Amino acid sequence: MKQVYMETFGCQMNVADSDRMELLLFHSGYARTQVAEDADLILVNTCSIREKAEHKVFSLFGSFRPLKEANPDLILGLAGCLAQQEQDRLLRRIPDLDMIIGPDVIEDIGLALDQVLAQKTPVVWTKFDQHKQYSIPELQSIKNQGPSAFVNIIKGCDKLCSFCVVPFTRGREKSREPEEIYQEVRQLVAAGAKEIILLGQNVNAYGKHGLKNPLAFHDLLYGVADLPGVERLRFTTSHPMDFTRDLIRAFRDLGPLMNHLHLPVQSGNNRILEMMRRHHTVEYYVDLIEELKSTVPGVALSTDIIVGFPGETRSEFEDTLNLMERIGYSNSYIFAYSPRPNTPALEFEDNVPDAEKSDRLQATIDLQHRLSRQNGQRFMGKTVEVLVEGRSARQGARFKGRNPEYWMVLFSGEEESLKPGQIVPVQVDEVLGHALKGHAIAQ
Ligand code: SAH
Ligand code: F3S
Repeated sequence: MKQVYMETFGCQMNVADSDRMELLLFHSGYARTQVAEDADLILVNTCSIREKAEHKVFSLFGSFRPLKEANPDLILGLAGCLAQQEQDRLLRRIPDLDMIIGPDVIEDIGLALDQVLAQKTPVVWTKFDQHKQYSIPELQSIKNQGPSAFVNIIKGCDKLCSFCVVPFTRGREKSREPEEIYQEVRQLVAAGAKEIILLGQNVNAYGKHGLKNPLAFHDLLYGVADLPGVERLRFTTSHPMDFTRDLIRAFRDLGPLMNHLHLPVQSGNNRILEMMRRHHTVEYYVDLIEELKSTVPGVALSTDIIVGFPGETRSEFEDTLNLMERIGYSNSYIFAYSPRPNTPALEFEDNVPDAEKSDRLQATIDLQHRLSRQNGQRFMGKTVEVLVEGRSARQGARFKGRNPEYWMVLFSGEEESLKPGQIVPVQVDEVLGHALKGHAIAQ
Protein backbone atom coordinates (compact mmCIF):
# COMPACT_ATOMS: atom_id res chain seq x y z
CA MET A 1 0.00 0.00 0.00
CA LYS A 2 1.00 3.60 -0.52
CA GLN A 3 1.24 5.89 2.48
CA VAL A 4 -0.51 9.10 3.40
CA TYR A 5 0.66 11.59 6.02
CA MET A 6 -2.11 13.86 7.30
CA GLU A 7 -2.27 16.97 9.48
CA THR A 8 -5.45 18.62 10.67
CA PHE A 9 -6.11 22.19 11.80
CA GLY A 10 -9.25 23.79 13.17
CA CYS A 11 -12.61 22.63 14.44
CA GLN A 12 -14.12 19.24 15.23
CA MET A 13 -15.77 19.19 11.82
CA ASN A 14 -12.28 19.17 10.35
CA VAL A 15 -11.19 16.36 12.67
CA ALA A 16 -14.24 14.36 11.55
CA ASP A 17 -13.52 15.20 7.88
CA SER A 18 -9.93 14.01 8.27
CA ASP A 19 -11.13 10.71 9.75
CA ARG A 20 -13.47 10.32 6.80
CA MET A 21 -10.70 11.12 4.29
CA GLU A 22 -8.45 8.59 5.99
CA LEU A 23 -11.12 5.95 5.45
CA LEU A 24 -11.74 6.98 1.81
CA LEU A 25 -8.01 7.03 1.11
CA PHE A 26 -7.66 3.58 2.61
CA HIS A 27 -10.17 2.37 0.04
CA SER A 28 -8.04 4.09 -2.63
CA GLY A 29 -4.94 2.20 -1.51
CA TYR A 30 -3.32 4.55 1.03
CA ALA A 31 -2.48 3.57 4.62
CA ARG A 32 -1.85 6.32 7.14
CA THR A 33 1.68 7.00 8.35
CA GLN A 34 2.86 9.25 11.18
CA VAL A 35 6.14 9.96 9.35
CA ALA A 36 6.02 12.64 6.65
CA GLU A 37 9.30 11.38 5.13
CA ASP A 38 7.66 8.01 4.31
CA ALA A 39 4.63 9.46 2.57
CA ASP A 40 3.51 9.19 -1.06
CA LEU A 41 0.78 11.71 -0.30
CA ILE A 42 0.80 14.56 2.21
CA LEU A 43 -2.62 15.99 2.97
CA VAL A 44 -3.17 19.03 5.18
CA ASN A 45 -6.72 19.74 6.29
CA THR A 46 -6.80 23.50 6.82
CA CYS A 47 -8.79 26.11 8.72
CA SER A 48 -9.47 29.70 7.67
CA ILE A 49 -11.50 30.94 10.62
CA ARG A 50 -8.71 33.33 11.64
CA GLU A 51 -5.67 34.66 9.84
CA LYS A 52 -3.26 32.97 12.23
CA ALA A 53 -4.54 29.54 11.17
CA GLU A 54 -3.50 30.38 7.58
CA HIS A 55 0.04 31.41 8.51
CA LYS A 56 0.63 28.06 10.19
CA VAL A 57 -0.35 26.24 6.99
CA PHE A 58 2.06 28.21 4.81
CA SER A 59 4.98 27.53 7.10
CA LEU A 60 4.07 23.84 7.25
CA PHE A 61 4.14 23.55 3.46
CA GLY A 62 7.52 25.32 3.53
CA SER A 63 8.80 22.45 5.67
CA PHE A 64 7.60 19.89 3.08
CA ARG A 65 9.61 21.48 0.27
CA PRO A 66 12.79 19.37 0.81
CA LEU A 67 10.64 16.20 0.72
CA LYS A 68 9.16 17.19 -2.61
CA GLU A 69 12.61 18.04 -3.97
CA ALA A 70 13.89 14.63 -2.92
CA ASN A 71 10.85 12.84 -4.29
CA PRO A 72 9.06 14.59 -7.19
CA ASP A 73 6.35 11.87 -7.18
CA LEU A 74 5.23 12.94 -3.73
CA ILE A 75 1.71 14.40 -3.96
CA LEU A 76 1.04 17.49 -1.85
CA GLY A 77 -2.65 18.08 -1.15
CA LEU A 78 -4.48 20.78 0.75
CA ALA A 79 -8.04 20.29 2.00
CA GLY A 80 -10.42 22.22 4.26
CA CYS A 81 -11.78 25.74 4.43
CA LEU A 82 -8.63 27.49 3.24
CA ALA A 83 -8.72 25.25 0.15
CA GLN A 84 -12.25 26.36 -0.59
CA GLN A 85 -11.59 30.01 -0.09
CA GLU A 86 -8.14 30.84 -1.34
CA GLN A 87 -7.53 28.64 -4.37
CA ASP A 88 -5.59 31.06 -6.57
CA ARG A 89 -3.58 32.58 -3.76
CA LEU A 90 -2.65 29.10 -2.51
CA LEU A 91 -1.36 28.05 -5.92
CA ARG A 92 0.79 31.17 -6.03
CA ARG A 93 2.08 30.86 -2.47
CA ILE A 94 2.69 27.09 -2.55
CA PRO A 95 4.09 26.34 -6.01
CA ASP A 96 4.59 22.63 -5.14
CA LEU A 97 0.91 22.05 -4.50
CA ASP A 98 -0.62 19.21 -6.57
CA MET A 99 -4.18 19.18 -5.31
CA ILE A 100 -6.70 21.45 -3.61
CA ILE A 101 -9.88 19.78 -2.36
CA GLY A 102 -12.77 21.65 -0.71
CA PRO A 103 -14.52 20.55 2.50
CA ASP A 104 -17.81 19.89 0.73
CA VAL A 105 -16.38 17.44 -1.80
CA ILE A 106 -14.14 15.19 0.30
CA GLU A 107 -16.13 12.15 -0.86
CA ASP A 108 -14.43 12.71 -4.25
CA ILE A 109 -10.89 12.53 -2.91
CA GLY A 110 -10.17 9.29 -4.81
CA LEU A 111 -11.31 10.86 -8.09
CA ALA A 112 -9.29 14.00 -7.44
CA LEU A 113 -6.19 11.89 -6.83
CA ASP A 114 -6.73 9.98 -10.08
CA GLN A 115 -6.79 13.30 -11.84
CA VAL A 116 -3.53 14.39 -10.17
CA LEU A 117 -1.86 11.35 -11.72
CA ALA A 118 -3.42 12.08 -15.13
CA GLN A 119 -2.55 15.75 -15.53
CA LYS A 120 0.53 17.96 -15.15
CA THR A 121 -1.13 21.04 -13.67
CA PRO A 122 -2.50 21.20 -10.11
CA VAL A 123 -5.98 19.78 -9.59
CA VAL A 124 -8.49 22.14 -8.01
CA TRP A 125 -11.53 20.17 -6.80
CA THR A 126 -13.82 22.57 -5.00
CA LYS A 127 -17.08 22.88 -6.90
CA PHE A 128 -20.04 21.94 -4.81
CA ASP A 129 -23.59 21.28 -5.75
CA GLN A 130 -25.95 23.04 -3.40
CA HIS A 131 -28.87 20.91 -4.65
CA LYS A 132 -27.28 17.58 -3.93
CA GLN A 133 -28.60 15.70 -0.91
CA TYR A 134 -26.26 15.53 2.09
CA SER A 135 -25.24 11.93 2.44
CA ILE A 136 -22.16 10.12 3.78
CA PRO A 137 -22.14 6.67 2.17
CA GLU A 138 -21.40 3.74 4.46
CA LEU A 139 -17.90 2.31 4.20
CA GLN A 140 -16.36 -0.66 5.86
CA SER A 141 -14.45 0.62 8.88
CA ILE A 142 -10.68 0.20 8.99
CA LYS A 143 -9.77 0.96 12.56
CA ASN A 144 -10.96 0.13 16.01
CA GLN A 145 -13.36 2.76 17.13
CA GLY A 146 -12.40 4.72 20.26
CA PRO A 147 -14.95 5.17 23.06
CA SER A 148 -16.06 8.58 21.78
CA ALA A 149 -17.18 9.15 18.17
CA PHE A 150 -18.24 12.16 16.11
CA VAL A 151 -21.23 11.90 13.79
CA ASN A 152 -22.00 14.62 11.26
CA ILE A 153 -25.69 15.54 11.16
CA ILE A 154 -25.77 18.89 9.34
CA LYS A 155 -23.32 20.77 7.19
CA GLY A 156 -22.92 24.43 6.33
CA CYS A 157 -24.40 27.44 8.11
CA ASP A 158 -27.14 29.93 7.20
CA LYS A 159 -26.58 32.23 10.14
CA LEU A 160 -24.18 34.58 8.36
CA CYS A 161 -22.66 36.13 11.47
CA SER A 162 -20.90 39.24 10.17
CA PHE A 163 -17.40 38.09 11.18
CA CYS A 164 -17.55 34.48 10.06
CA VAL A 165 -16.12 32.85 6.96
CA VAL A 166 -17.83 29.46 7.44
CA PRO A 167 -20.96 30.13 5.32
CA PHE A 168 -18.60 30.94 2.42
CA THR A 169 -16.36 27.92 2.82
CA ARG A 170 -18.86 25.25 3.79
CA GLY A 171 -21.94 26.58 2.07
CA ARG A 172 -25.52 26.62 3.26
CA GLU A 173 -27.20 24.36 5.80
CA LYS A 174 -28.16 20.91 4.70
CA SER A 175 -29.20 18.04 6.98
CA ARG A 176 -28.47 14.38 6.72
CA GLU A 177 -31.33 11.86 6.68
CA PRO A 178 -32.03 10.51 10.21
CA GLU A 179 -31.96 6.87 9.09
CA GLU A 180 -28.44 7.34 7.75
CA ILE A 181 -27.40 8.94 11.05
CA TYR A 182 -28.96 6.13 13.11
CA GLN A 183 -27.25 3.55 10.92
CA GLU A 184 -23.85 5.19 11.43
CA VAL A 185 -24.42 5.34 15.19
CA ARG A 186 -25.35 1.63 15.28
CA GLN A 187 -22.19 0.82 13.36
CA LEU A 188 -20.01 2.94 15.68
CA VAL A 189 -21.54 1.35 18.77
CA ALA A 190 -20.94 -2.11 17.31
CA ALA A 191 -17.29 -1.08 16.79
CA GLY A 192 -16.91 0.00 20.43
CA ALA A 193 -18.17 3.60 20.73
CA LYS A 194 -19.92 4.48 24.00
CA GLU A 195 -20.28 8.20 23.47
CA ILE A 196 -21.73 9.86 20.37
CA ILE A 197 -21.05 13.54 19.65
CA LEU A 198 -23.40 14.96 17.01
CA LEU A 199 -21.61 17.52 14.90
CA GLY A 200 -22.47 20.56 12.83
CA GLN A 201 -21.76 24.30 12.67
CA ASN A 202 -25.26 24.87 13.96
CA VAL A 203 -26.83 21.58 15.00
CA ASN A 204 -30.01 23.27 16.26
CA ALA A 205 -30.93 24.05 12.67
CA TYR A 206 -31.07 20.32 11.97
CA GLY A 207 -34.03 19.31 9.83
CA LYS A 208 -34.77 22.73 8.36
CA HIS A 209 -33.27 21.98 4.95
CA GLY A 210 -32.61 18.90 2.92
CA LEU A 211 -34.73 16.21 4.61
CA LYS A 212 -37.44 14.17 2.86
CA ASN A 213 -39.62 14.37 5.98
CA PRO A 214 -39.15 17.20 8.46
CA LEU A 215 -37.64 16.31 11.82
CA ALA A 216 -36.62 18.73 14.56
CA PHE A 217 -33.22 18.52 16.25
CA HIS A 218 -34.68 17.47 19.61
CA ASP A 219 -36.54 14.61 17.87
CA LEU A 220 -33.24 13.43 16.42
CA LEU A 221 -31.74 13.52 19.92
CA TYR A 222 -34.57 11.36 21.28
CA GLY A 223 -33.99 8.97 18.38
CA VAL A 224 -30.22 8.65 18.92
CA ALA A 225 -30.54 8.40 22.72
CA ASP A 226 -32.91 5.47 22.19
CA LEU A 227 -30.44 3.40 20.18
CA PRO A 228 -29.03 0.48 22.18
CA GLY A 229 -25.49 1.02 23.45
CA VAL A 230 -25.48 4.84 23.29
CA GLU A 231 -24.39 5.49 26.85
CA ARG A 232 -23.43 9.12 26.38
CA LEU A 233 -24.71 11.71 23.96
CA ARG A 234 -23.42 15.23 23.26
CA PHE A 235 -23.74 17.77 20.46
CA THR A 236 -21.84 20.78 19.19
CA THR A 237 -22.21 23.61 18.17
CA SER A 238 -25.42 25.42 18.96
CA HIS A 239 -26.64 28.87 18.07
CA PRO A 240 -28.76 30.58 20.76
CA MET A 241 -31.41 31.65 18.23
CA ASP A 242 -32.34 28.09 17.32
CA PHE A 243 -32.20 26.84 20.88
CA THR A 244 -35.73 25.72 21.73
CA ARG A 245 -37.63 24.91 24.91
CA ASP A 246 -37.99 21.37 23.53
CA LEU A 247 -34.24 21.08 23.64
CA ILE A 248 -34.17 22.13 27.29
CA ARG A 249 -36.72 19.38 27.94
CA ALA A 250 -34.49 16.89 26.12
CA PHE A 251 -31.71 17.67 28.62
CA ARG A 252 -34.13 16.90 31.43
CA ASP A 253 -35.61 13.73 29.87
CA LEU A 254 -32.74 11.96 28.16
CA GLY A 255 -30.44 9.96 30.42
CA PRO A 256 -27.60 9.66 27.89
CA LEU A 257 -27.63 13.41 27.06
CA MET A 258 -24.74 14.69 29.15
CA ASN A 259 -24.83 17.58 31.58
CA HIS A 260 -22.95 20.07 29.42
CA LEU A 261 -23.87 22.65 26.82
CA HIS A 262 -21.55 24.64 24.58
CA LEU A 263 -23.50 27.76 23.61
CA PRO A 264 -21.41 30.46 21.91
CA VAL A 265 -22.35 33.98 22.97
CA GLN A 266 -19.44 35.92 21.35
CA SER A 267 -20.11 39.17 23.27
CA GLY A 268 -21.90 40.45 26.37
CA ASN A 269 -22.92 43.73 24.77
CA ASN A 270 -26.11 44.30 22.77
CA ARG A 271 -24.65 46.81 20.31
CA ILE A 272 -21.78 44.47 19.47
CA LEU A 273 -24.11 41.46 19.23
CA GLU A 274 -26.17 43.40 16.71
CA MET A 275 -23.08 44.32 14.68
CA MET A 276 -22.07 40.68 14.79
CA ARG A 277 -25.52 39.79 13.42
CA ARG A 278 -26.15 37.24 16.12
CA HIS A 279 -29.86 38.26 16.11
CA HIS A 280 -30.36 38.09 19.87
CA THR A 281 -29.76 40.21 22.94
CA VAL A 282 -27.80 39.55 26.11
CA GLU A 283 -31.11 39.38 28.01
CA TYR A 284 -32.47 36.70 25.68
CA TYR A 285 -29.33 34.62 26.17
CA VAL A 286 -29.36 35.01 29.95
CA ASP A 287 -33.06 34.00 30.11
CA LEU A 288 -32.33 30.88 28.09
CA ILE A 289 -29.46 29.90 30.37
CA GLU A 290 -31.49 30.60 33.51
CA GLU A 291 -34.26 28.33 32.25
CA LEU A 292 -31.78 25.61 31.38
CA LYS A 293 -30.07 25.90 34.77
CA SER A 294 -33.36 25.62 36.63
CA THR A 295 -34.53 22.63 34.56
CA VAL A 296 -31.16 20.85 34.55
CA PRO A 297 -29.45 21.48 37.90
CA GLY A 298 -25.66 21.46 37.76
CA VAL A 299 -25.47 21.76 33.96
CA ALA A 300 -21.98 22.88 32.88
CA LEU A 301 -21.76 25.68 30.33
CA SER A 302 -19.06 26.68 27.91
CA THR A 303 -18.90 29.33 25.21
CA ASP A 304 -17.00 31.11 22.44
CA ILE A 305 -15.96 34.74 22.89
CA ILE A 306 -14.55 37.26 20.41
CA VAL A 307 -12.72 40.27 21.83
CA GLY A 308 -11.76 43.41 19.91
CA PHE A 309 -14.59 43.29 17.37
CA PRO A 310 -14.53 46.47 15.18
CA GLY A 311 -15.65 49.44 17.26
CA GLU A 312 -15.77 47.55 20.56
CA THR A 313 -15.08 50.07 23.33
CA ARG A 314 -13.38 49.17 26.57
CA SER A 315 -16.67 49.36 28.43
CA GLU A 316 -18.45 47.20 25.82
CA PHE A 317 -15.67 44.68 26.27
CA GLU A 318 -16.16 44.79 30.03
CA ASP A 319 -19.81 43.84 29.45
CA THR A 320 -18.48 40.55 28.08
CA LEU A 321 -16.43 39.95 31.24
CA ASN A 322 -19.50 40.71 33.34
CA LEU A 323 -21.64 38.27 31.37
CA MET A 324 -19.02 35.54 31.69
CA GLU A 325 -18.95 36.04 35.43
CA ARG A 326 -22.74 36.06 35.63
CA ILE A 327 -23.11 32.79 33.70
CA GLY A 328 -20.08 31.20 35.41
CA TYR A 329 -18.80 29.28 32.39
CA SER A 330 -16.75 26.21 33.14
CA ASN A 331 -14.77 26.78 29.94
CA SER A 332 -14.49 29.33 27.11
CA TYR A 333 -12.78 29.46 23.73
CA ILE A 334 -11.56 33.02 23.45
CA PHE A 335 -10.43 34.70 20.22
CA ALA A 336 -9.18 38.13 19.15
CA TYR A 337 -11.20 39.39 16.18
CA SER A 338 -9.53 38.65 12.86
CA PRO A 339 -10.88 40.20 9.63
CA ARG A 340 -11.82 37.52 7.08
CA PRO A 341 -12.34 37.72 3.31
CA ASN A 342 -15.92 38.13 2.02
CA THR A 343 -17.41 38.72 5.47
CA PRO A 344 -19.71 41.72 6.08
CA ALA A 345 -17.64 42.83 9.10
CA LEU A 346 -14.90 43.85 6.67
CA GLU A 347 -16.96 46.98 6.07
CA PHE A 348 -16.45 47.98 9.68
CA GLU A 349 -13.08 49.45 10.46
CA ASP A 350 -10.91 46.96 12.40
CA ASN A 351 -9.96 49.79 14.74
CA VAL A 352 -9.07 48.14 18.04
CA PRO A 353 -5.26 48.31 18.17
CA ASP A 354 -3.45 44.96 18.30
CA ALA A 355 -1.97 45.72 21.72
CA GLU A 356 -5.44 46.46 23.08
CA LYS A 357 -6.81 43.27 21.51
CA SER A 358 -4.06 41.24 23.18
CA ASP A 359 -4.75 42.96 26.46
CA ARG A 360 -8.47 42.12 26.24
CA LEU A 361 -7.66 38.57 25.21
CA GLN A 362 -5.41 38.11 28.23
CA ALA A 363 -7.93 39.65 30.64
CA THR A 364 -10.62 37.29 29.31
CA ILE A 365 -8.37 34.25 29.56
CA ASP A 366 -7.42 35.22 33.14
CA LEU A 367 -11.08 35.57 34.09
CA GLN A 368 -11.92 32.20 32.55
CA HIS A 369 -9.10 30.55 34.51
CA ARG A 370 -10.56 31.92 37.70
CA LEU A 371 -14.09 30.81 36.73
CA SER A 372 -12.85 27.33 35.80
CA ARG A 373 -11.05 26.96 39.12
CA GLN A 374 -14.16 28.09 41.01
CA ASN A 375 -16.33 25.74 38.97
CA GLY A 376 -14.02 22.82 39.52
CA GLN A 377 -14.32 23.17 43.29
CA ARG A 378 -17.79 21.67 43.17
CA PHE A 379 -16.23 18.32 42.25
CA MET A 380 -13.62 18.32 45.06
CA GLY A 381 -13.86 15.21 47.20
CA LYS A 382 -16.82 14.00 45.12
CA THR A 383 -17.12 10.89 43.00
CA VAL A 384 -17.59 11.52 39.28
CA GLU A 385 -18.41 9.06 36.51
CA VAL A 386 -15.59 9.00 33.95
CA LEU A 387 -15.63 7.47 30.49
CA VAL A 388 -12.10 6.05 30.22
CA GLU A 389 -10.43 7.26 27.01
CA GLY A 390 -6.95 5.89 27.56
CA ARG A 391 -3.65 6.73 29.13
CA SER A 392 -2.56 10.18 30.19
CA ALA A 393 0.95 11.50 29.65
CA ARG A 394 0.75 13.50 32.87
CA GLN A 395 2.82 12.38 35.82
CA GLY A 396 1.02 10.76 38.69
CA ALA A 397 -2.16 10.23 36.70
CA ARG A 398 -2.17 7.21 34.49
CA PHE A 399 -5.56 7.41 32.85
CA LYS A 400 -7.73 10.07 31.36
CA GLY A 401 -11.36 10.50 30.47
CA ARG A 402 -14.26 12.93 30.83
CA ASN A 403 -17.03 13.33 33.34
CA PRO A 404 -20.61 14.18 32.23
CA GLU A 405 -19.86 17.92 32.58
CA TYR A 406 -17.07 17.49 29.99
CA TRP A 407 -14.19 18.09 32.38
CA MET A 408 -11.04 16.18 31.56
CA VAL A 409 -10.28 13.89 34.50
CA LEU A 410 -6.77 12.49 35.05
CA PHE A 411 -6.68 9.61 37.48
CA SER A 412 -4.77 6.69 38.91
CA GLY A 413 -6.12 3.17 39.24
CA GLU A 414 -5.49 -0.51 38.77
CA GLU A 415 -4.10 -1.21 35.32
CA GLU A 416 -6.02 -4.47 34.82
CA SER A 417 -9.43 -3.15 35.71
CA LEU A 418 -9.36 0.02 33.58
CA LYS A 419 -10.03 -0.29 29.87
CA PRO A 420 -10.93 2.42 27.35
CA GLY A 421 -14.71 2.54 26.96
CA GLN A 422 -15.50 1.74 30.57
CA ILE A 423 -17.39 4.21 32.73
CA VAL A 424 -15.79 4.23 36.17
CA PRO A 425 -16.26 6.17 39.42
CA VAL A 426 -13.33 8.47 40.21
CA GLN A 427 -12.86 10.42 43.40
CA VAL A 428 -11.60 13.96 42.72
CA ASP A 429 -8.60 15.07 44.82
CA GLU A 430 -7.43 18.19 42.98
CA VAL A 431 -8.58 20.86 40.53
CA LEU A 432 -5.97 21.73 37.87
CA GLY A 433 -7.10 24.63 35.66
CA HIS A 434 -9.75 23.09 33.45
CA ALA A 435 -9.02 19.52 34.49
CA LEU A 436 -9.60 17.36 37.55
CA LYS A 437 -7.22 14.91 39.16
CA GLY A 438 -8.22 11.92 41.24
CA HIS A 439 -8.21 8.17 41.77
CA ALA A 440 -10.50 5.42 40.52
CA ILE A 441 -12.61 3.82 43.20
CA ALA A 442 -12.59 0.04 43.21
CA GLN A 443 -16.04 -1.29 42.28
N1 SAH B 1 -20.84 27.54 14.53
C1 SAH B 1 -20.30 28.09 15.69
C2 SAH B 1 -18.92 28.65 15.56
C3 SAH B 1 -18.03 28.39 14.39
S1 SAH B 1 -16.47 29.18 14.38
C4 SAH B 1 -21.29 29.09 16.32
O1 SAH B 1 -22.45 28.86 16.34
O2 SAH B 1 -20.93 30.13 16.86
C5 SAH B 1 -15.83 28.96 16.02
C6 SAH B 1 -15.61 30.23 16.72
O3 SAH B 1 -14.56 30.96 16.12
C7 SAH B 1 -16.78 31.19 16.70
O4 SAH B 1 -17.77 30.86 17.63
C8 SAH B 1 -16.12 32.50 17.02
O5 SAH B 1 -16.03 32.72 18.40
C9 SAH B 1 -14.71 32.34 16.44
N2 SAH B 1 -14.56 33.13 15.20
C10 SAH B 1 -15.21 32.97 14.05
N3 SAH B 1 -14.82 33.91 13.15
C11 SAH B 1 -13.92 34.68 13.78
C12 SAH B 1 -13.16 35.83 13.38
N4 SAH B 1 -13.29 36.37 12.18
N5 SAH B 1 -12.30 36.36 14.29
C13 SAH B 1 -12.18 35.82 15.53
N6 SAH B 1 -12.88 34.75 15.96
C14 SAH B 1 -13.74 34.18 15.10
FE1 F3S C 1 -20.11 31.09 11.79
FE2 F3S C 1 -22.13 32.19 13.00
FE3 F3S C 1 -22.47 30.03 11.56
S1 F3S C 1 -20.12 31.87 13.87
S2 F3S C 1 -20.54 28.96 11.64
S3 F3S C 1 -21.89 32.01 10.79
S4 F3S C 1 -23.43 30.50 13.53
